[in-house]
Order: sequence, then structure tokens, then C-alpha cells
Amino acid sequence: MSNSNPIGLFDSGVGGTSIWKEVHSLLPNENTIYLADSKNAPYGQKSKEEIIHLSKKNTEYLLNQNAKLIIVACNTATTNAINELRATYHVPFIGIEPAIKPAALHSKTHTIGILATKGTLNSELFHENVKKYHNIKIIEQIGFGLVELIENGDLNSNKTTQLLQDYLLPMVEQNIDYLVLGCTHYPYLIPQIKKIIPSHIKIIDSGEAVAKQTKKILEEKNISNTESNDTTYHKFYINNSPDAMQDLIGKQYKITQKEF
Ligand code: SIN
Repeated sequence: MSNSNPIGLFDSGVGGTSIWKEVHSLLPNENTIYLADSKNAPYGQKSKEEIIHLSKKNTEYLLNQNAKLIIVACNTATTNAINELRATYHVPFIGIEPAIKPAALHSKTHTIGILATKGTLNSELFHENVKKYHNIKIIEQIGFGLVELIENGDLNSNKTTQLLQDYLLPMVEQNIDYLVLGCTHYPYLIPQIKKIIPSHIKIIDSGEAVAKQTKKILEEKNISNTESNDTTYHKFYINNSPDAMQDLIGKQYKITQKEF
């Protein structure tokens, strides 16, 4: 294993690129490979067994590309499959869990909202996490339909606005002061969300924390790529149309459409 081996990331689609951006910004020397399993999106509506199966398939593809560490850039895959992945493969895995802790610690109204997929909100890992905050009212809302809209590049449509209003306004009425985005697709909706909720409500996602955790683990395991050079690469693979993803990551990155 060489320190120049890539960091692998996978998601049910384009959402995990919100995590990739944070990782790339904090660790610019690291090579990366990103898998967008858009053909199977959304994971949030699938059974735990299916999510584990897809997560293993993605992991094996990344290991065949010599990934030295894998970021499960999908809340649903993390909450349902990360224990199984860690028990099966011998590379470090970084998962994405909804950032309930900072919201619960800082909430003045003792009421926070969380928007996530059905698969995340129904998972054992999520329930375990929530139990720790019994003095806080946590309003859970499934973001039905949002992942599909983001996968289609429909960030600004009337349908997206309508769904966000339906999901968020009841939380606002219940006096939340933090909104936790528990799906890596949702940060792409932050501009629309800000138009709906009052400005005193803070929006939290997990991108920055995941990037910091990745840096810490690479350092602990002595596998950071500290050399800055011109050959750093970023490979993006998607098994569906690349158009929406290209808009999200920018035209300077090449996306390859292929089966994996
Ligand atoms: C999904 O595929 O349903 C969303 C992925 C996530 O939970 O981050």
C-alpha cells in the first residue's frame, strides 16, 4: 500500500459529492475515486439487506482500484451497512452520521429538526444515537422524493420548493432552532431551504466533520499523501447519466459513465 493510493468514496448517487468537496478542500494532495451508484438511487427506500449488498459491491470496486480508505458518503449506507463493511474488509471506513450532537448541544429551544431518508431514520444506529439526547425534542422528517429530484438536477423546481415547504414549515412551527441535514444529497438544497425557514435557524450538515475525521485517520495510520505534485487525480464514475453530477462538481472534472 502506497500513500499515493486514492481515497475511495461512494454514494447512492450525486449527493456524496458534497462530502467529496469538503475532503478535497481539506486534503488537496489526496487522489480520489468517487462512485455514484445513481442507477440504484434512492437507497433510502431499500431494505437493509439490499443496502448492505450494494455497499459491498461499491466497496469491492473501490478496493480493486487500490483505495486506501473508504468514505461511505451516504447516510443511508452508513447507518445500515458500515458495521458489516468494517467486519468484512480491512481498510479504514469513514461513515456519515447526522450531526445531531452539535445541534443538541447548542439548541436554546431544546428542539431540533432532522431531515433524512426513511432508511436512515428507521435504522438501529440512528435510534441508538437519538437515545443519547432525551432532554431534546427531535423532530424527524423523511425527505420523500428529494433524492430523486436532486439526482435529476431539479434543485430549483416548483416541486422541490413545495416538498421542502411541506417538510420544513411544521418544524418551524414547533420552534426548532437547528435543522440537521441527514442525507448527503440535501446540502445542495441549502439555498432553497434558506428561502423557506427563518434565518435564526441554523442548518448543519456533516461535510466538514467528515473531512476532518478523514484527515485524522489518515494521519493516525500514517497513510496521508503529503507530497504536492501535478499528477493528483480525481476519478468520478457514475452508472447513469452524468449530466446532473457534472453541474454539481463543475466542468473541470471528467466523469465516466460505466457499469460497476
Ligand atoms: C438515498 O439514496 O436515499 C440518500 C442517500 C443518503 O442517505 O445520503
